[in-house]
Amino acid sequence: MKHHKIVFIGSGNITSAIVSGIVENGYPSQKITVCAPSEGHRGVLAKKWGVISSADNAAAIRQGDVIIFSVKPQKIRELCQDLCDAKIDFSNKLILSVVTGISISRFCELLNTKLNLIRMMPNTPVRVHEGMTALFAAEEVNEADRHFTTELMCSVGKVCWLKNEADINKVIAVSASAPAYFFLFMEAIEREALLLGFSQERARLLVQQTARGVCALVEKSSALSLSELRQQVTSKGGTTEAAIEFFNKKQLFTIVSSAMKAAIAQAEFLEKNTF
Ligand SMILES: NC(=O)c1ccc[n+]([C@@H]2O[C@H](COP(=O)([O-])OP(=O)(O)OC[C@H]3O[C@@H](n4cnc5c(N)ncnc54)[C@H](OP(=O)(O)O)[C@@H]3O)[C@@H](O)[C@H]2O)c1
Repeated sequence: MKHHKIVFIGSGNITSAIVSGIVENGYPSQKITVCAPSEGHRGVLAKKWGVISSADNAAAIRQGDVIIFSVKPQKIRELCQDLCDAKIDFSNKLILSVVTGISISRFCELLNTKLNLIRMMPNTPVRVHEGMTALFAAEEVNEADRHFTTELMCSVGKVCWLKNEADINKVIAVSASAPAYFFLFMEAIEREALLLGFSQERARLLVQQTARGVCALVEKSSALSLSELRQQVTSKGGTTEAAIEFFNKKQLFTIVSSAMKAAIAQAEFLEKNTF
């Protein structure tokens, strides 16, 4: 990977995950600056990974080649106003944004300039370098910048490129919010295991190892559809079939479909109304 000067604006969960991934993969830590108002998170990153830490967004951005915006959406308006006041020249910089609900056109509006911008939608498994990140680039972003971004996010998992910016909101429902759906399902099985009399430790092990095994099976069986994998473990008249029939009777697919539609609707609402 080419070693540009990277500046992270925000030093929370997502920044921490990406920094650990790229430094572990050999990216020179002295080419990375993390910015945040308080010393807390950025101090930890500086100590652990040897990156430069700063409270001065504008000064850091001026020196950077790649600027990664990784703050909560509620902070973005004020942050952009400060950067406009500092009269920063964003031409010749690659801008990456993980900020939910801020479109490319809105970002350009807030910074009052045209931006060479790529939106990224990761999920929390980036923390263990098993993330899934969807990417969408503004038309003017060149091939070298797209390639750099792919390599960067491949340090913390897998990536896919989207053709339409509107698909970012769909990805929120499919992969960005989905870790919570899986946690919820695991939580439900664990709770029932506890009610059946297993200890907390045993219930957690039973659920956790099953989930891990299921992911490994799915990965190793790419020739089979998920439905075929399910059918393989659902023998006629058996115990699994009894459980699956109950899920079907309660229309699990309809429940999941409605839940995901609610996530998309909320993403669209936030995009239109919050900023
Ligand atoms: N977590 C996810 O799964 C996920 C998935 C996809 C997208 N996203 C998006 O990614 C973004 C970051 O999420 P996160 O979970 O990493 O958030 P986070 O852990 O809350 O971190 C936010 C960081 O922003 C910093 N910050 C606040 N105001 C700032 C300013 N004016 N200048 C510079 N830094 C500032 C905070 O500083 P302090 O350290 O001083 O508080 C903190 O370090 C959000 O927009 C979120 O929607 C998150």
